[in-house]
Amino acid sequence: MEKNIAVIKGDGIGPEIVTEAMKVLDAIGNKYHHQFNYTEILMGGCSIDAYGVPLSDEALNIAKNSDSVLLGAIGGNTSTSPWYQLEPSLRPEAGLLKIRKELGLFANLRPAYLYDELKGACPLKEELTEGGFDMMIMRELTGGLYFGKRSTQEEDGQLVARDAMSYSETEIRRIAKRGFDIAMKRRKKVTSVDKANVLDTSRLWRKVIEEVAQDYPEVTYEHMLVDNCAMQLVRDPKQFDVILTENMFGDILSDEASMVTGSIGMLSSASLREDKFGMYEPSHGSAPDIAGQNIANPIATILSAAMMLRYSFDLDQEAKDIEDAIEKVLKEGYRTTDIMSEGKKLVGTKEMGDLIVSHL
Ligand code: IPM
Ligand code: MG
Repeated sequence: MEKNIAVIKGDGIGPEIVTEAMKVLDAIGNKYHHQFNYTEILMGGCSIDAYGVPLSDEALNIAKNSDSVLLGAIGGNTSTSPWYQLEPSLRPEAGLLKIRKELGLFANLRPAYLYDELKGACPLKEELTEGGFDMMIMRELTGGLYFGKRSTQEEDGQLVARDAMSYSETEIRRIAKRGFDIAMKRRKKVTSVDKANVLDTSRLWRKVIEEVAQDYPEVTYEHMLVDNCAMQLVRDPKQFDVILTENMFGDILSDEASMVTGSIGMLSSASLREDKFGMYEPSHGSAPDIAGQNIANPIATILSAAMMLRYSFDLDQEAKDIEDAIEKVLKEGYRTTDIMSEGKKLVGTKEMGDLIVSHL
C-alpha cells in the first residue's frame, strides 16, 4: 500500500514527537511493505513566523489532497509569545480551527484509558479505578460555539461581547451516528452529554439522539447533564463507554478525562469525517516549556499514527503491532519523565521512539 500523508509538526514539542511517530510509521511500513510518503506543511506559530498566517492556502491544499494528516501540536505560551499579540483570527489556534472546518472533520475521537502499567499515575483513589477504565470521548468538532458568529461592540457606553452557538439536526445526526457506530464496536453504551435544562441547542441535541438511538437497539444510551458528567468523571469513571457531546463540552470533558488517566502524554486522538480521511494528533498540547529538550513523551503521537493506520488505511494488524510494542516497552519499565516513577528506567523522546521501533 502506498499513502500520502501531510505532516504538520507544528510548534513546541511538535517537531520532536512527530519525528518519532514518522520513525515508527516507516518501521511498520518496512515490515509490511507499505510506503508512506510525507509532505511537511506548516501550521500554527511556525506558519505565522514564515508566512504571517497560521495556515496558508497552499498548506491547506496539500492537506486536502493527501490521504490523511499527522499533526503534532500547535501554539505557544499565551502570556509570553508574540503570536498572542495578533488579532484572534491570526493566532496559532485559528489555523487548527480552520483546518478542521475546511477538511470537514466533524467527529473527534479522544480515548481516555487507564494503562495497567501506569495505574500509579492516576490521581483517583484506587478503589474508584479498580479494574481500570476505558472510555471514548466523541466530540463534535466543526459546529457550536467555536464556529458561531462573534462580536465585541460598544453598547450604551460599555463593551458587549457575543458568541453564537448553533447546531442543525444534520450536524447532530452525523456525529450521533458515528458515536453509536463506535459504541457498537465497544461495550455498546452511549452517554450523551448536554445542558438540556438550559440550552435550546441541547434540547435539539437530545431529540436527535433519541431518534438515532432507535436505529441501534443493542446500544444502551442515557442522557447526562454536562455539570453532572464533569462530576461523574472523577466519582466513577468506570461507568463510561462512549461519551457523545458537542464541541465545547467535549473540549472541556476530554481534558478532564485525560487528567483522570494521569498520563496525558499517552492519549491519542482522531478527527474524522464520513469517508476514510482523518487528521491524527496527540490529545495534549505543544508544551513550549519543555520543547527541544528531548524529554517529551512521543507515545500519544505514535498511538495517533496507529489510529491513522486503523481508521484511514484499514491496517488493523499494523496498528495493533504498534500498540503492542508500546505495551512491551512500558512493561520493560521504560518511561519518559511525565510518566516516570520509582524504580523505572528514564529515557528521552528519541530513545522512546527507538525502543518502540525495536519491538515492532
Ligand atoms: C483542543 C484544543 C483546541 C480546541 C484549541 C487549541 C483551539 O483545546 O484540541 O482541545 O479547543 O479545540
Ligand atoms: Mg482542548
